[in-house]
Amino acid sequence: MHEEVKHPCVQHKLALIRNKDTGYKKFRELATEITMFLCYEALKEIEVKEVTVQTPLAEAAGHKIANELVVVPILRAGVGMLEGILGLVPTARVGFVGMYREAGTKKPVSYYHKLPKETDGGTCIVIDPMLATGGSTAATIDFLKEQGAATIVVICIVTCPEGIALVETEHPDVKIYTASVDDHLDDRKYIVPGLGDAGDRLFGTR
Ligand code: PRP
Ligand code: URA
Repeated sequence: MHEEVKHPCVQHKLALIRNKDTGYKKFRELATEITMFLCYEALKEIEVKEVTVQTPLAEAAGHKIANELVVVPILRAGVGMLEGILGLVPTARVGFVGMYREAGTKKPVSYYHKLPKETDGGTCIVIDPMLATGGSTAATIDFLKEQGAATIVVICIVTCPEGIALVETEHPDVKIYTASVDDHLDDRKYIVPGLGDAGDRLFGTR
């Protein structure tokens, strides 16, 4: 399952972040801003439990997020979305998964992980700006499921039909929120039109 967030504020910022002339400072700011909007959408279906609070006047019924939230950026580019998501859910824990696409095969290679113990039974929000072939995201979801994650949601800035199909086939229980499902992958497995290499553009390594 996936949802493209068509809100005009998201689409406005998406056009700016795609622009090849947007430098890394502005690119980072836009990644943070877009992530906040996407995260707001993604959390609308999160499980809550009923609570009662005492106002100065009376008791009021309310809701509280039911499970521990664990945000999981996929290194390296996922770090560019961390500030935005923690701006909305500052009490979330953070677990890191390191993956890179092997130059020839484009298959994900795992090189690091450090998760909080609350991943077991928790709600994990995987963040990565690019869901291209879907390999890195699907491998991260496999790993989180092995660690006992109860619910997993993916937030990416841009994706494409190939990546969506892979994740939806392998993990039909995981919902993907994105600002855009783009047209296709090119020969190098880059998203077209996409926004280029997100890690390089975020961190100025181009
Ligand atoms: C990019 C991106 C994703 C992955 C997407 O990372 O940030 O993690 O590629 O591709 P996929 O869907 O085909 O797996 P990259 O491997 O370039 O590493 P980096 O973040 O360290 O630059
Ligand atoms: N990784 C990126 O950074 N961009 C793409 O288009 C595909 C993978």
